[in-house]
Amino acid sequence: MNLKKYFFLIFIALNITCYAQNMASLSISNNSNQTISKYIYGQFAEHLGHGIYGGFWVDKSMSVAKQDRIRLDVVKALKEIKIPSLRWPGGCFADEYHWRDGIGPTAQRPRMVNTNWGGVTEDNSFGTHEFLELCSLLGCEPYIAANVGSGTVEEMSKWIEYVNSNSTSTVVQLRKQNGHPEPYKVTFWGIGNESWGCGGNMTPEFYSDQFKKYASFAKNYPSVPLKKIASGPNADDYNWTEVVMKNIPNWMMWGISLHYYTIPTGNWSHKGSATSFSENEYFETMVNCLKMEELVTKHSAIMDKYDPNKHVALVVDEWGVWTDVEPGTNPGFLYQQNSLRDALIAATTLNIFNNHCHRVKAAALAQTINVLQSLILTDKDKMLLTPTYYIFDMYKVHQDAKYLPIKLSSPDYEVDGKKISAINVSASQDASGKIHISLVNLDVHNNITISTSLKDIQWKTVNGQILTSANITDINTFQQPDKLHLESFKGAKKDGDNLMVVMPAKSAVTLELE
Ligand code: AHR
Repeated sequence: MNLKKYFFLIFIALNITCYAQNMASLSISNNSNQTISKYIYGQFAEHLGHGIYGGFWVDKSMSVAKQDRIRLDVVKALKEIKIPSLRWPGGCFADEYHWRDGIGPTAQRPRMVNTNWGGVTEDNSFGTHEFLELCSLLGCEPYIAANVGSGTVEEMSKWIEYVNSNSTSTVVQLRKQNGHPEPYKVTFWGIGNESWGCGGNMTPEFYSDQFKKYASFAKNYPSVPLKKIASGPNADDYNWTEVVMKNIPNWMMWGISLHYYTIPTGNWSHKGSATSFSENEYFETMVNCLKMEELVTKHSAIMDKYDPNKHVALVVDEWGVWTDVEPGTNPGFLYQQNSLRDALIAATTLNIFNNHCHRVKAAALAQTINVLQSLILTDKDKMLLTPTYYIFDMYKVHQDAKYLPIKLSSPDYEVDGKKISAINVSASQDASGKIHISLVNLDVHNNITISTSLKDIQWKTVNGQILTSANITDINTFQQPDKLHLESFKGAKKDGDNLMVVMPAKSAVTLELE
């Protein structure tokens, strides 16, 4: 073989390999009776750092539009993405929170030390009424985590009565005196938080008994049937799920929670920077993020043993990326920046939840404003929307839509001999018949062409939105708040009955087919 022919054959072989490497195929079917619950898109706000104080609830003197002390620019931004629920007051804070401290005239409310988060003084100016006013402004469902760790059954029971009853009892009269004659009708109640850790360091056997006791006195008032959520496992503690599912009857709980955070390095004592990381660290972070698929699958399999008809929801009410705090900020405040990487974590995780919607019926990203993987960052009167915010904006179309099953064959994204699937995806059909397909390309270097067949689905046009940027570390800052934002996506077209999509490297896209 002459040299010219040899190089020509090498060239062809390389091209074929490359073509195969950069091609994915997808098949979407209409054959489902499952709904993607809107509560998968829930949020979490704890009394921690500047999440509540300085985030939602600001000084009277701050020159931003406010109702009471709730800032309205953040309310407007969160309404835009249709947040369905807000979990409060914690987190670890929930198990040291005494609700009576947070009602009545503000000046008379007791002060306490927030022992979990920086040892700062909590003045209780943001309490039950303020939280429920916030939820009403947001148009979302409140989700209250009750204190099981340091509170009594009577305290929790009276809180529920205070909030939900319309009787003439003394505690209900107190609510009326405090300015709210009508019951608030809060249905979502967490019975403790992380009872295996900051919520009391309990064993699953002991917690199961505690749950049954507390839940027995968490009463339904007229037209307010409660959705009681048991404190669930820490990440891969499968024994916790097994014991709790075995010991608590299905009828007693609406859901069981799961907490899992993506730690970039996988090491809690050195979690990794939010803004400065290598491709290797990005890859490891994505490996850790994709662990959510395994966790949801394995916890669901245990739940299936005790609840084959799927009455009990898996509620992933704390998730997101947890990095080292921004240099120079209070380590107890968990303030971190938010990059394109974090947006891809959000998109990938939401795809996992959508695809497990038969069991995952609610979730909450930690923690909305200025804490961990935030949707919004504020600096006094300024605010910015993070890349993660834009993922929730793109994905809101899946809320309460019909889940569409998917078969995916994706090339790998490989770093240092380790591989993950480059593409992940979920799809749904909304009430008006529009199909939405959310795709993520985790590969930092390669665009990937996806050929999609849609079984029994009629469509004529395709539009889309994309979130991407030049670097995986790119962030929005107060100097450049719009560096990352949604843009119109032109990389999808109809090709006969097929949909052809060219997914740019490190991007998230949502397509709309009509
Ligand atoms: O979200 C921060 C903390 O993480 C929460 O307070 C706790 O529940 C979890 O460990």
